[in-house]
Amino acid sequence: MKTGTESRSQRRFMVLMMFSLFFLTGGIAAAQWFEEQLPPLLPPPQYGNILINRNSVKSDMLPVSFSHWIHRSKYTCRVCHTELEIDMKVNSTEITMDKIGKGQYCGACHDGETAFGQEECQKCHTGDIAAGSDKFKKLPSLPKTGFGNRIDWVEAWKKKLIKPKKALRPGEYSPPTFKKFLTLQAEWNNIPPSIFPHDIHNSWLDCSSCHPDVFNIKLKTTKHFLMTKMFEGKFCGACHLNVAFPLNDCKRCHPAINR
Ligand code: HEC
Ligand code: HEC
Ligand code: HEC
Ligand code: HEC
Ligand code: HEC
Ligand code: HEC
Repeated sequence: MKTGTESRSQRRFMVLMMFSLFFLTGGIAAAQWFEEQLPPLLPPPQYGNILINRNSVKSDMLPVSFSHWIHRSKYTCRVCHTELEIDMKVNSTEITMDKIGKGQYCGACHDGETAFGQEECQKCHTGDIAAGSDKFKKLPSLPKTGFGNRIDWVEAWKKKLIKPKKALRPGEYSPPTFKKFLTLQAEWNNIPPSIFPHDIHNSWLDCSSCHPDVFNIKLKTTKHFLMTKMFEGKFCGACHLNVAFPLNDCKRCHPAINR
């Protein structure tokens, strides 16, 4: 019979083994170990898709499918996550049909003019995480990457293949000018640093998406800033686990990593 203590010490042993392997073989063993901790990736047309179900099933409706790739090609994150006050955590915003009818949340656009209207119940209440996959195939060709939606959203924007709106009420938005490029030195001495470009993030997001809740506003002062915490959805993992390119893509953050 396995006791809790035994499995804990087994785990400690495994970690020790990983560490020693890591120091013998450089970043490769660490990279493999980290990759094994990562949640399995959904197929590209489903990456960033969510099913919202706080009240739907309780009210005899199918859960609501929402696809990030459909929406982010037309709007930046801040439109929904700042302007429309939608939380970056599924099922945490109190979205109701009543509020949608008053123009909040989905209702800011799904009014029959900007996008299809609220009478088309079955278009949202599909209960299917893969809803919209057929349209994914019909996307105009966008620059490719190896992970997530397998779309390089940064290149797609730079090449003006997508032109996401930065605000629903443009008069009330002035684009941030803060562009500082950061080099985040990893705590392990044979792991090359991660880069952090403020300009790319600030084109999609607001300072308040990250400061002060996710990161301190001072280089290398954020506590417990570790990859294992990111796998739980903290720090970079707040976005780079299920909407922005996933943590599997080591090289995009650690350009000099041997992977
Ligand atoms: C979204 C960006 C991002 C991706 C993708 C990413 N990392 Fe990191 N990683 C970081 C940051 C940022 C740090 C350093 C945090 C600090 O200490 O300031 C870090 C630190 C590390 C460390 C040091 C130990 C620790 O836990 O902090 C290791 C090892 C590491 N990364 C390996 C990897 C491997 C292997 C992959 C791919 C499987 C990967 N990283 C993917 C951003 C990323
Ligand atoms: C058209 C609106 C809209 C846009 C644009 C949008 N989101 Fe979301 N996002 C949502 C909704 C709705 C939810 C679910 C919130 C809830 O259920 O409380 C969500 C949830 C999330 C989650 C949590 C996912 C999970 O599995 O828990 C993350 C992370 C996220 N968004 C990041 C982003 C990022 C990054 C961008 C820009 C690249 C973005 N979103 C653009 C509407 C949007
Ligand atoms: C633009 C997308 C969209 C359309 C169209 C839509 N809904 Fe919803 N609906 C939502 C979202 C998002 C929620 C919140 C999901 C949850 O909490 O489970 C919701 C919640 C609900 C709920 C849960 C209780 C409540 O009032 O919030 C019911 C019932 C419901 N919708 C019925 C309908 C019916 C009937 C129609 C068609 C007349 C419809 N919906 C059309 C997005 C939509
Ligand atoms: C900022 C504007 C905006 C917001 C907010 C928004 N949408 Fe959309 N949505 C669009 C646009 C534009 C399209 C694409 C045009 C169309 O299909 O009419 C779209 C498409 C969709 C589709 C694709 C349907 C299909 O044709 O296959 C679904 C489903 C959807 N939205 C659900 C939602 C839900 C659920 C919410 C709220 C949680 C929401 N949207 C919030 C603008 C928005
Ligand atoms: C996507 C997340 C994100 C967004 C959005 C963001 N930042 Fe940061 N910022 C960071 C991270 C990560 C750090 C480094 C924290 C650490 O190392 O502990 C940082 C650090 C900083 C620092 C300290 C730099 C230094 O060299 O000490 C300043 C100042 C700052 N941010 C300002 C801003 C402003 C102003 C905005 C909006 C215009 C903004 N940030 C938007 C993630 C973000
Ligand atoms: C609030 C959401 C959010 C957080 C938190 C966040 N990012 Fe990002 N990041 C994005 C989005 C959105 C993009 C655009 C690319 C995409 O969506 O795939 C992006 C792009 C990047 C790029 C640009 C890659 C390129 O091709 O130029 C790098 C590098 C990056 N992130 C690193 C990080 C690191 C390191 C952290 C943590 C210190 C972090 N990000 C935290 C949302 C976020």
